Amino acid sequence: LGWAVVCLAGGYACGSIPFGLVLGYVFGLGDIRKIGSGNIGATNALRTGNKAMAALTLLGDILKGTVPVFVALSYLGPFYAAAAGVGAFLGHLFPVWLGFKGGKGVATYLGILLGIAPLGVVVFAIAWLSVAYLTRYSSLAALTATLLVPIAYFFLGYPAAAILTAILTVLVYIRHHANIRRLVAGTEPRIGAGKA
Ligand code: G3P
Repeated sequence: LGWAVVCLAGGYACGSIPFGLVLGYVFGLGDIRKIGSGNIGATNALRTGNKAMAALTLLGDILKGTVPVFVALSYLGPFYAAAAGVGAFLGHLFPVWLGFKGGKGVATYLGILLGIAPLGVVVFAIAWLSVAYLTRYSSLAALTATLLVPIAYFFLGYPAAAILTAILTVLVYIRHHANIRRLVAGTEPRIGAGKA
């Protein structure tokens, strides 16, 4: 159990690095929490109009899920990888450095999938890209992808991955409550709508 706590804490330390916020300052764009949805993720980073900065935010937020999971998996095993993944996810959602006000978890979710069972990555990618292409709603794409991943794991015979991702999905949905309300009201901004 000692190592599980180490993995949880190590994951948290990685996950709590707010790439969107840091890169916003590095690129001289200021505090990205003051624009658009106020979120620190890649979707909101894109609303600065700087695609390179948004892409780096996406990459950083993905890798901070993948790296701790991969390290824990290589040295300790699947249970510890799950602990590292949960830690990274909680770090992204509730970073101590930002008064526990972090992101919505979508990129880090994908990063964790990359580390544990790449099958989920395929489901995630197909669902996210199709919904984003058809509707241009990043949030709807994320809500669809994260709903389908645990279902797919369950039916394909990976119950542990199904349970782990189902827990993460619940957290993604909770973090998207404002997006869900805007989607229902028809006021959610679409990708490419320009600076918000
Ligand atoms: O990945 C986050 C996305 O689903 C929603 O982001 O900034 O539109 O609230 P945002």
